[in-house]
Amino acid sequence: MQVDTQSELSRTTLILHWTVGIVMIILLASGVFMKEAEFYAMYPWHKAFGVLIIVPVVLRVLWRVKSGWSPPVREYSKLERVLAKFIHYLLIIGTVILPISGFLMSAMGGHGVDLFGLELVARNPNPLNPQEVIPLNGPVAGIAHEVHEIAGSIVIIAVILHTVGVLKHHIFDKDGTLIRMLGVKV
Ligand code: HEM
Ligand code: HEM
Repeated sequence: MQVDTQSELSRTTLILHWTVGIVMIILLASGVFMKEAEFYAMYPWHKAFGVLIIVPVVLRVLWRVKSGWSPPVREYSKLERVLAKFIHYLLIIGTVILPISGFLMSAMGGHGVDLFGLELVARNPNPLNPQEVIPLNGPVAGIAHEVHEIAGSIVIIAVILHTVGVLKHHIFDKDGTLIRMLGVKV
């Protein structure tokens, strides 16, 4: 398997970065939107893509554990390296915490989780009022809900800082950081 170098990133890194990155941005935006707008028709879609993203997320974590982080395109100040690494850790850990907390919140809250019609965890309706659900484990659902909300806000800020950092490299430093991630040899 190809490896990441200073001048070129492997196909594995490129495919995993953009698949996870684009789906993450859609999930973050849809999560905030559907909640604020009380747009319940969007919930099953958010949940299904939120569960599916686990596959490329796990592959990506394994890929990073096996091959380490990609070397930067050139030498930078220590502060810049530490900041970039810190944000990369926040982002990659966020991609693991968000689907797990979302799944636990919905499943343990009794709301159920299904994957485009395939039932993964059944809804647990209240027999006295089937419009309502009974949590399978209220405290776990509550904690998972808090975690989902807090991690969501942290990752939104991290994505903004990450994008600002990438644009700074492209516009001010005029280096190949961005175009290397677009598959170009620098
Ligand atoms: C990488 C995957 C995911 C991301 C990035 C993500 C992101 C978000 C964000 C940012 C919110 C808004 C949080 C708030 O303001 O309270 C949200 C809400 C929500 N997410 Fe996710 N989510 C993901 C996966 C999941 C999964 C797997 C499920 C369930 C199976 C799920 C279920 C929900 C539900 C039900 C809400 C609405 C909560 C409410 O109404 O209070 N999410 N999500
Ligand atoms: C506007 C969208 C985005 C752009 C333009 C972008 C661009 C980049 C670039 C150019 C790098 C390489 C940095 C380097 O060489 O040190 C990178 C790395 C990285 N990005 Fe993004 N990114 C975006 C969105 C995201 C999102 C949403 C995530 C969240 C999961 C993310 C997570 C990462 C991580 C963890 C790395 C470290 C290398 C890796 O594991 O692939 N990026 N990004």
